[in-house]
Amino acid sequence: MTSHCELSPPPAGDTGGARHGPDVAFREGRSERLVIRRFGVEDVASFAAYRSEPATARYQSWATPFSQAQASSFIESLQSAHPDSPGAWFQFAVVEAATGVHIGDVAAGVDSDDPRVATIGVTLTTSARGKGYAGEALAWLLDYLFVDRQKHRVTADCDVRNSGAAALLDHLRMRREAHHLQSTWLKPITRPSGVDSGDVGLSVVMALPPPGQGALTPLLRLAADFRAHG
Ligand SMILES: CC(C)(COP(=O)(O)OP(=O)(O)OC[C@H]1O[C@@H](n2cnc3c(N)ncnc32)[C@H](O)[C@@H]1OP(=O)(O)O)[C@@H](O)C(=O)NCCC(=O)NCCS
Repeated sequence: MTSHCELSPPPAGDTGGARHGPDVAFREGRSERLVIRRFGVEDVASFAAYRSEPATARYQSWATPFSQAQASSFIESLQSAHPDSPGAWFQFAVVEAATGVHIGDVAAGVDSDDPRVATIGVTLTTSARGKGYAGEALAWLLDYLFVDRQKHRVTADCDVRNSGAAALLDHLRMRREAHHLQSTWLKPITRPSGVDSGDVGLSVVMALPPPGQGALTPLLRLAADFRAHG
């Protein structure tokens, strides 16, 4: 029996006019102040450095420090990968155009069952923040996904305590569609109160883990639609 909330994949061959499949031709994109390009071996040290910043990793899946060997292996794995590959994430390096300095990354993961749907993420090194670069890079990514790759829907998942990222996604006019409670396992919560003040006013009581264990973390789900593809 099919439940009312189950989604059917599109019929075989029905692309809804969308481009499907890996963008093997992708090399780089540009916004006003940024170059968004494939990662290369020259990015190993900078990638390892910002992934090792505790404040940068706080609401992300990786542990710190993030070694050069881990960075090298991750970047190596991207060499044979392409953006818009169903069932896979692709990480784009974000570079300040004026200086050529690698300052972070944006990423897009494409749904395996419905490749018209993607999820995005962003990370900037601390020294590059407060300049609007993250918003500019994500605006480029949304444009790439909706216009170049003709996606139907793009979502972002954000730890509710990550108020800076939530504000950024709000600023991009992504709408809050859901607030999933205790929906993902990230890092231990260090606050003893059980109520996280960074919960962007949604009155969620954070679950406190048993001593010595990690915490189940609520996620905000934000989404953007490209209305022309309605
Ligand atoms: C989330 C993250 C990318 C946001 O970076 P950011 O630099 O704060 O975001 P923005 O690019 O939107 O910059 C906005 C700030 O730059 C300021 N700014 C300066 N010049 C600007 C310009 N030309 N255009 C726009 N904003 C500008 C804005 O006023 C704003 O400052 P405010 O937050 O004090 O109001 C960053 O905090 C980060 O990398 N965090 C760690 C990784 C992470 O958690 N990622 C999110 C996963 S969902």
